[in-house]
Amino acid sequence: MNAEEKTTLARFLDLAGDCLRDGHARHRDDYAFEDDAQEAPKGFSSLPLAYQMDEEAALGEEAGEQSVSLAGCETLEDLAAAVRACETCGLCATRTHAVPGEGPNRPLAMVIGEGPGADEDATGRPFVGRAGQLLDKMLASVALYRDKNCFIANIVKCRPPKNRDPQPEEIAACIPFLKRQIMLLRPRVILCAGRVAAQSLLGTGQGINALRGTFASFSAGGEAGEAVPVLCTFHPSAILRNEDLKRPAWEDLKLLKARLDSITSLAPSGETGEHDRAVL
Ligand code: URA
Repeated sequence: MNAEEKTTLARFLDLAGDCLRDGHARHRDDYAFEDDAQEAPKGFSSLPLAYQMDEEAALGEEAGEQSVSLAGCETLEDLAAAVRACETCGLCATRTHAVPGEGPNRPLAMVIGEGPGADEDATGRPFVGRAGQLLDKMLASVALYRDKNCFIANIVKCRPPKNRDPQPEEIAACIPFLKRQIMLLRPRVILCAGRVAAQSLLGTGQGINALRGTFASFSAGGEAGEAVPVLCTFHPSAILRNEDLKRPAWEDLKLLKARLDSITSLAPSGETGEHDRAVL
């Protein structure tokens, strides 16, 4: 609770007590409350703290030990260079290449995966292994292409060893990069691939079955500040492991396609990334 909320509550309780006891309000000196200290992040359920990080911290001006520096990241190219130079968390020690992401600026859609695997670590490009090939097919089925109108990125930009899940502190350290990417790219729709991407972006502990099949929204802040619709679906790797996920994933893609169609039927040409290619 902050000081203002405590003061309002105390005024109300004192007033109610005075009226019940004396039949009228008594004069009181000013209250002198202080804001409660913020709790330290403990895991996914606390991750919104990372998103609430104020702009100065995000810009690296008051960055703590675990914050990436976004100072000078005014373009996607600046941001990609900062990602490649980043040593904020332990994942930098085992990476071959950081993987900033790739695709056009001002894309129609942005796909967010979990983090690079072995093929991505070897090449510095997102989703280029088996899961990536399936992702490309899924995207093509709804007329999305990474060289045309769809940007592909990940929650963490460096490969977790042996493809383990990224740790909450690694996600918290890396997510300012993603948030800045979203601010710069201004995608019209975001597709989160898998539980880790969905939970990390939306700041929830809910499972992927609860999160998929319906649109949420995410606001990265910044001048544009608009909320971007977010659809979550299964990760292509999960679909490769379990064929039963194909049908619900296809249902999600149909929902995505309907949203894309409504956007493109309204968009002036040039607003969907098709004329503004900048593959990173
Ligand atoms: N899985 C992901 O989540 N991202 C990649 O880039 C590759 C595989």
